[in-house]
Amino acid sequence: NMGRKFCVGGNWKMNGDQKSIAEICKTLSGAQLDPNTEVVIGCPAIYLMYARNLLPCNIGVAGQNAYKVAKGAFTGEISPAMLKDIGADWVILGHSERRAIFKESDELIAEKAAHALAEGLKVIACIGETLEEREANKTNDVVARQMCAYAQKIKDWSNVVVAYEPVWAIGTGKTATPEQAQEVHAFLRKWLCENISPEVAESLRIQYGGSVTAANAKELAKKPDIDGFLVGGASLKPEFVEIINAKK
Ligand code: G3P
Repeated sequence: NMGRKFCVGGNWKMNGDQKSIAEICKTLSGAQLDPNTEVVIGCPAIYLMYARNLLPCNIGVAGQNAYKVAKGAFTGEISPAMLKDIGADWVILGHSERRAIFKESDELIAEKAAHALAEGLKVIACIGETLEEREANKTNDVVARQMCAYAQKIKDWSNVVVAYEPVWAIGTGKTATPEQAQEVHAFLRKWLCENISPEVAESLRIQYGGSVTAANAKELAKKPDIDGFLVGGASLKPEFVEIINAKK
């Protein structure tokens, strides 16, 4: 994969408590993780410091959202500066749940991404089409539109990972086939080449997300343009270790 380091994120979403998080962190700390794979845990904000302290330093932690400014009168929000302050080095932005449930626009998400990068965070920038959009043959148009919005605000892509998560595959048990995922990843790389630069197209890591499990990770990981995963449900279970090691 052209020197792109495999990168596996766990997105815990709004799950876990002190007890269960301590257990997952213990499992991850004790496991033999492939040193050639970068690992990031997206933890609920309230438990980020706790998880940071329980995880080994070779595992990064990520916020699951952050606002587009550093501080101020934004009740309920957290900033990239705050994430940095407690030792998180990543933030997941633009997840389909943020888009669909919290009505975040392409533009707001891109503004958040640009601000997080400016504050020194690494960003997992999510994109993906709905079932309706796929069935209408609009997958490429949708992911291109979402990438365009990011590209209008992001100037330096070196700290960005893109997560392609088809919405119909998220939490449904309906994983994209390796061929379906590869097809979109290859389209994204071509889009990056034509709209950003050949260098960014070559170096930017593109994760696949949507019902990744220990059972399907290995086949997906063989595809040339799949550079990692963003894992929901299975990242809360011991099988996450097998997914991290899918390339081994
Ligand atoms: O961000 C990861 C996620 O949306 C995929 O969730 O549970 O289908 O692995 P899941």
